[in-house]
Amino acid sequence: MIKHIPVLLKEAVELLNCKSGGVYVDCTVGAGGHAERLLELSSPDGIVIGIDQDDEILKIAEERLKRFGDRIRLIHGNFSDIKGIMKDERADAILFDLGASSYQLLDKERGFSFMYDAPLDMRMDKKAETTAADIVNKLSERELSELIFKYGEERFAKRIASFIVKEREKNPIATTLQLSDIVKKAIPARFHPRDIHPATRTFQALRIAVNRELDVLEKGLLDAIEILRPNGRVCAISFHSLEDRIVKRTFQRLAKGCICPPKIPVCQCGIKPSIKIITKKPVTPDEKEIKDNPRARSAKLRAAERLQV
Ligand SMILES: C[S@@+](CC[C@H](N)C(=O)[O-])C[C@H]1O[C@@H](n2cnc3c(N)ncnc32)[C@H](O)[C@@H]1O
Repeated sequence: MIKHIPVLLKEAVELLNCKSGGVYVDCTVGAGGHAERLLELSSPDGIVIGIDQDDEILKIAEERLKRFGDRIRLIHGNFSDIKGIMKDERADAILFDLGASSYQLLDKERGFSFMYDAPLDMRMDKKAETTAADIVNKLSERELSELIFKYGEERFAKRIASFIVKEREKNPIATTLQLSDIVKKAIPARFHPRDIHPATRTFQALRIAVNRELDVLEKGLLDAIEILRPNGRVCAISFHSLEDRIVKRTFQRLAKGCICPPKIPVCQCGIKPSIKIITKKPVTPDEKEIKDNPRARSAKLRAAERLQV
């Protein structure tokens, strides 16, 4: 049976300052691991609004969280639309636990994993137009190579792209196993990583691209911070260096405020800091958490507090 262990659970909920009566938004509710803890800590009357773009995973969250009755509201949507979802409602704290859930990664039919042969899909939101097969079959060799290098941090990206293009000239690439075999062949055996499957990085790159994971992050964070009450907190847990960079830079920009060039002695722009950064350095899992849940190994948590503006 698939199980998703929430990452940095204790640290995240502590930083979110959860109290009874508060309104909390879990922007990536998944199977509801963090949301469950938020509901427990905000009892008896705190509200949790759980957003996810995957309606299948929301069914798991619904089952898990049903004992909280109307204190949990689950919404199928993208967190980049958090303002539309919340309308005029304000939040006391907002959580982003980015990336994919084990329920998605280990699903035998959804094409996220090289472990099961399935159509090369990888869409978290089934209504999205582009699948991983579309990307693999339609992008130019150069675009594919850049994508695999950037999102997968894969040093053999060029060779993998070239092998993909040669293969798809014979037959379109339609399944996970087809793709993982191509990647395995493209990376010389002596360079196959010891601790992960050779196709891990390529599959990660495609998942990030299909779900536009990095494209929506900055907007999601900015809009989330806008709907926070003064002293409300935002926490983001990232699993990829590019993701963490977006979180870090967005927080730094809002904490700085003024955007005048350094040469100007007196601020002309009038932009004031809107947040205070709580985690000077990102919080990372300890050895025990990584041992119990290897998926946590690359996690970084950053938190900030909304100022009275
Ligand atoms: C790491 S999982 C969250 C796990 C959850 N915290 C738990 O403990 O069960 C990330 C979830 O975010 C969802 N997701 C990713 N990007 C999203 C976006 N832009 N908008 C809404 N949901 C998103 C995925 O579908 C996935 O279910």
